[in-house]
Amino acid sequence: DKIVLAYSGGLDTSIIIPWLKENYDAEIIATCIDVGQDEDMEKVKSKAIASGATKVYVEYSTDEFVKDYVYKAIKANALYEGKYLLGTSLARPLMAKKLVEIAHKEGAAYICHGCTGKGNDQVRFEVGIAAFDPSIKVIAPWRIWDIKSREDAIDYAQEKGIKVPCTKEKIYSRDQNLLHISHEGGDLEDTNNEHKDDILYMMTKTLEKASNTSEYVEIEFQKGEAVSVNGEKMKPHEILTSLNAIGSNHGIGVLDMIENRLVGMKSRGVYETPGGSILIEAHKLLETLTLDRNTVHTKSMMSIEYSKLVYDGLWFSPLKEALDAFFDKTQEFVSGVVKVKLYKGNIMPSSIDSPYALYDQGISSFGESDLYNQKDAEGFINLFSLPTKIQTMMKKKNEIN
Ligand code: ARG
Ligand code: SIN
Repeated sequence: DKIVLAYSGGLDTSIIIPWLKENYDAEIIATCIDVGQDEDMEKVKSKAIASGATKVYVEYSTDEFVKDYVYKAIKANALYEGKYLLGTSLARPLMAKKLVEIAHKEGAAYICHGCTGKGNDQVRFEVGIAAFDPSIKVIAPWRIWDIKSREDAIDYAQEKGIKVPCTKEKIYSRDQNLLHISHEGGDLEDTNNEHKDDILYMMTKTLEKASNTSEYVEIEFQKGEAVSVNGEKMKPHEILTSLNAIGSNHGIGVLDMIENRLVGMKSRGVYETPGGSILIEAHKLLETLTLDRNTVHTKSMMSIEYSKLVYDGLWFSPLKEALDAFFDKTQEFVSGVVKVKLYKGNIMPSSIDSPYALYDQGISSFGESDLYNQKDAEGFINLFSLPTKIQTMMKKKNEIN
């Protein structure tokens, strides 16, 4: 038999290889999926072999991740619980897809992942796998073995002679890709502890170390998709890379939040999303100029639903796909150039310009115009206030205050 293992080189997946070898009579095919995490894939590869994997695949998927996952989420302005840009949630379905592809190529009946039994990621992996091949059997060691904490895991790794990237003192659970890095666990579990920005941050500068000079950045969008930064045309992953560098320097995109996990519990996490935060803010600004009121309002409701679906791992689902079609239609005229000013964690609007602007200075300004006659407002208000008048008259009649 063969087991395809989602391998990151981190603590959770490193100890899985010796454990699988002890408990299953199978070849282990380690699979690393590069979605832009700051990781030397050659090192990860040799580590997988050193830990006992028979074969290693490295899938370079950063461009696909940004183009087909991140960009869709930006068009939707997807923010889970109003804040989280879904960095981890967006990467898992892509990983699930790659894992199934490799399982098919290898003729493997099993896929193994290193997610704990308490989190969202197990759900996202397994729903994603099921979407492509319901017959694949999943092995989730964290739900099986006696290792109960990250401390136990470190002990087990040391016992098996495996080098691990964290010690018992710095015990954060992290997940990184080109969109973000998340930090959970350790001292963050106590909500009374302020997060230690200087030791925690990996993609962003602390506010204290952020540049003391503001900086403008200009992003061009076509149909809701960023196509250039400061006048330079780039591919989606290059845009995000460029915005990450710019945003990082200004301490942009840090989030410290308590979120509601799908599996019922609350969890506290710190997220760094420098480039993504600039991108979504600029995109929202462009929509304020180019979308009509009803679309803006309906879209923001759909956005909440969409974010929940993505968070819950339902990326490959009928409603999620239908919503993508809806969002794509709304983006037809979301083209133009947005300039923002970055300073000490802030993103300030500077200018918004589009050939499809619905904002008309002639109509909106305080002067007179042909399209808008102030006298018309009187009749409009008479009809618009009719239900209010009737309601009040009814209350008066019944002596209700
Ligand atoms: N709480 C975030 C989410 O559910 C981040 C999860 C990070 N995952 C990890 N394996 N460290 O999307
Ligand atoms: C995990 O539990 O494996 C990471 C956190 C999460 O999935 O929410």
